Amino acid sequence: MSKGICVLAYSGGLDTSVCIRWIIENYDLDVVACLVEVGQEQDQDTDFTVAKALKIGAVESLMLNVQDEFADQYVAPAIAANALYENKYPLVSALSRPLISKALVKLAQERGASYIAHGCTGKGNDQVRFELAIKTFAPKLKVIAPWREWDIKSREDAIAYAEARAIPLRITRETNYSKDKNIWHLSHEGMDLEDPANEPVYDKILELGVSPEKAPDKAQYVTIDFKQGIPVAIDGKPMDGAALIELLNKLGGANGIGIIDMVENRLVGMKSRGVYETPGGTILYKAHALLESLTLDKDTSHLKDQLAIRFAELVYNGQWFTPVRQALSAFVSETQKYVTGQVKLKLYKGNIIPAGITSPYSLYDAELASFGESDYDHNDSAGFITLFGLPYQVAALLGREYK
Ligand code: ARG
Repeated sequence: MSKGICVLAYSGGLDTSVCIRWIIENYDLDVVACLVEVGQEQDQDTDFTVAKALKIGAVESLMLNVQDEFADQYVAPAIAANALYENKYPLVSALSRPLISKALVKLAQERGASYIAHGCTGKGNDQVRFELAIKTFAPKLKVIAPWREWDIKSREDAIAYAEARAIPLRITRETNYSKDKNIWHLSHEGMDLEDPANEPVYDKILELGVSPEKAPDKAQYVTIDFKQGIPVAIDGKPMDGAALIELLNKLGGANGIGIIDMVENRLVGMKSRGVYETPGGTILYKAHALLESLTLDKDTSHLKDQLAIRFAELVYNGQWFTPVRQALSAFVSETQKYVTGQVKLKLYKGNIIPAGITSPYSLYDAELASFGESDYDHNDSAGFITLFGLPYQVAALLGREYK
């Protein structure tokens, strides 16, 4: 008789494969391996991944597909918020962890488990994201984080542990980047990337597309329709969130778009360097921002820009299921009422070039903006400038000097 049940966030990768055996050996628990599918299994042999957990020793292994929920309830609100961590990172690992945790907690409750385990190291953000969400939904569940307990000190040690126990792996020592994949993103960290002085060897790294140099010499056009801030069609063809992102990933990837090489400030203190492939996400963020430039009034747009950075921080820090994030999302939703329209883009060698924006709710008044004749009375601005400049004029008259 084992000492209880542990639901493990299983990905089929190195860490979580090793975790199965380690938890059995060290905690004497029945391990239920659960692969919460947010898109990481694309191009993978999922049956093999699921079966592998049983071979390693899990009592049960299952896959829960939550891709649609991920696209609609997590990714779409982030696009609507234009949320980019440190103005660059489209947050994709950060968005998936709360949903994965929520699904795991539900399973743990169904199975009567008293433990949840994850394969995150003690150095990263993902552990925080998992555990904050677990606390929120199941405050009494105990968390096992083997990386914080075991003697395995590096990915090389983990490979050695796996090899000693004949645990099958999909990576080799040569491609030992720490990766995280979901429907619109693939991250690469570790190895040569750990030194920011090193230029990434893109030919070796990229999986979702090609580098700009390898992209076609001919530009490709794409048109995206948004309805109240949500992307709903590509080139006039209605699509649900996950399919739409998949198509944009293909188009963007082929044109060298969405390769982000950045040094970021982790929640747990250190700076880290990652190369992120987000072709579809980069196109969607750009298209959405372009449409907002036409449809949002100035004050809403400026306030939204300020809050976007805060929203991104909350998501990055794993604070998805919190009152403040929910309140910010309510603000964002309210701003999206008129973000409906069409954005045409030209994709060319890593660039996304605007090729026309239209909206039935456009606030752009061509007559008003034009250099040509209109009802605008140029004389109005003289009084405006007098009042707008009054404080500076008064200060100058009173002797205030500026360098
Ligand atoms: N640095 C990014 C983040 O914190 C990516 C993390 C990817 N996770 C991983 N387990 N490889 O969101």
